[in-house]
Order: sequence, then C-alpha cells, then structure tokens
Amino acid sequence: MTRIAVVTGGTRGIGAAISKALKAKGCTVAAIYAGNDEAAKAFKAETGIAVYKCDVSSYDTCAATLKTIEAEIGPVEILVNNAGITRDAMFHKMTPQQWQEVMSTNLNSLFNMTQPIWSGMRDRGFGRIVCISSINGQKGQMGQANYAAAKAGEIGFVKSLAQEGAAKGITVNAICPGYIATEMVMAVPQEVREKRILPLIPMGRLGEPEEIARCVTFLAADDASFITGATLSANGGQYMV
Ligand code: CAA
Repeated sequence: MTRIAVVTGGTRGIGAAISKALKAKGCTVAAIYAGNDEAAKAFKAETGIAVYKCDVSSYDTCAATLKTIEAEIGPVEILVNNAGITRDAMFHKMTPQQWQEVMSTNLNSLFNMTQPIWSGMRDRGFGRIVCISSINGQKGQMGQANYAAAKAGEIGFVKSLAQEGAAKGITVNAICPGYIATEMVMAVPQEVREKRILPLIPMGRLGEPEEIARCVTFLAADDASFITGATLSANGGQYMV
C-alpha cells in the first residue's frame, strides 16, 4: 500500500498503533494530534512519521492543516477519523460543557476532517475513509450519554457517506472497538473497570491497540474495494450485532 494516509489522534493510544501499522504497510502517514506536543515529538522521533498539530473540532483549522499536508506530502487517499475524548458523567451530573466538548471532538470532527478532502477523492476516483466508532455507540453506556450519542452518530455518518462515495471508488467504514488498553480506558475508575467491565468481556481481557490497527489496515487496503458502509466490531465478544 503506497498510499498517503492521515490519522487523527494519530500519535497516542489506538491512533499511534494505526499510524505505525499503515506505515508498516508502505503508506506515507501524517499523524494529527491536538495538543500533547511532548508525546507527538517522542512519537515522531520513534517512528519517523510526520506529525501535525490540529484541533479537529475546528473546521478552519482542519481545512488549513489538510491543505498543508497535501502541499507537503500529496493528496490524501486514506483518512482515519480516530480522534476522540471522553467526559464521562452520569447524565444527572453532566454539564453542557461535557456534552459540547465530546460532540465537537468526536462528531463535528468527522465533518471538519472529511469534507475538505472529499471532493478530491471524488475527482480522483479513489478514497478510503475509516472511522473509529465504539462498542458504546452500538449498545450505549451508563455515564456516556454524550460519548455514545457521538459514536452512534458516527455510524450514521459512515453509512450515509458510504452511499455517496460508492460510485466514486471511495469506501467509508466504521470500526467499533470494545475496551482497549489505552489511557482512555485506564482513566475509568479501577473498581468500575475490574468489577463492571472486565467480567462482561468473554475473552477476559482488554484489547490491544494493534488489534484495532489491523482492522484499519484491512479496510484501508486497495483490496477491500467491495466493503463499504460496514461496521466492524472488535470487542472480545462483549457485544454482538
Ligand atoms: N457498568 C455498570 N455499572 C457502572 C458502570 C459501568 N460501566 N459505571 C458505573 N457504574 C455504576 C457504579 O458501580 C455505581 O453503582 P453503585 O451505586 O451500585 O455502586 C453507579 O454506577 C454510580 O457510579 P459511580 O459511583 O462511579 O458514580 P460517579 O458519578 O462517581 O461516576 C462514572 C460515574 C463517571 C460513569 C464512572 O463510574 C465511570 O467512569 N464509569 C465508566 C464509564 C465507562 O464505561 N466509560 C468508558 C470509557 S472508555 C471508552 O469510552 C472507550 C470506548 O470506546 C469503549
């Protein structure tokens, strides 16, 4: 795969594993990160992957960053919308800010990152868009009305765009990871994680970021040309749809 790929949230957690896996497959990768300069610097030094600082909740910033990437590397052929945050709270305690932040970063980002490159993909007759949704967008999750709503919205976005892109050589798919061993999941209170979440996973363990990255390289490959609008679950058997 000698394609040009952009990965949002691409320097940490699942996104870092995705960036590395795409590079290992031969892609030229641009990894976008929001604000952790130190982690991005270390990631770049370790992998040699180019990093770009960009707030995915801002349309103008995304459009400008994608323009820079296209000028420096070339037209984006693979886009992995991976960036996401949690602001977990029981709904009776959830603030408008917790709701808005999750919507902006997890859902509005899909428009902000995809729209600026969509016409180019249509014109060239090729594109691979992979969106990292979540098991919690499929089944809901207490404490995550904001996150689950955004992640369910992501699936609607994918299915709609898949229909628009189908005749233009663009595939659009979602991956729904279960609980993966990243900082995000480790931020869940240990007691909740061990007593309420782990027992629900038939495999009896958290997933590894690389297990999600392999789903991405599969869907992003030229060969995955007849798969679009799909929702690929990778959750250790926790939820089957
Ligand atoms: N499943 C079942 N029960 C849960 C639960 C869960 N995931 N999370 C909380 N509860 C229960 C608690 O055990 C508690 O029950 P009891 O009153 O019987 O003891 C009750 O709900 C209230 O919980 P807390 O006392 O912890 O209330 P809180 O207000 O202090 O915190 C919370 C609530 C913020 C939701 C916190 O419990 C929490 O962070 N839960 C985890 C939510 C979660 O699963 N987030 C996923 C993050 S990872 C991710 O999002 C990646 C992905 O895509 C999968």
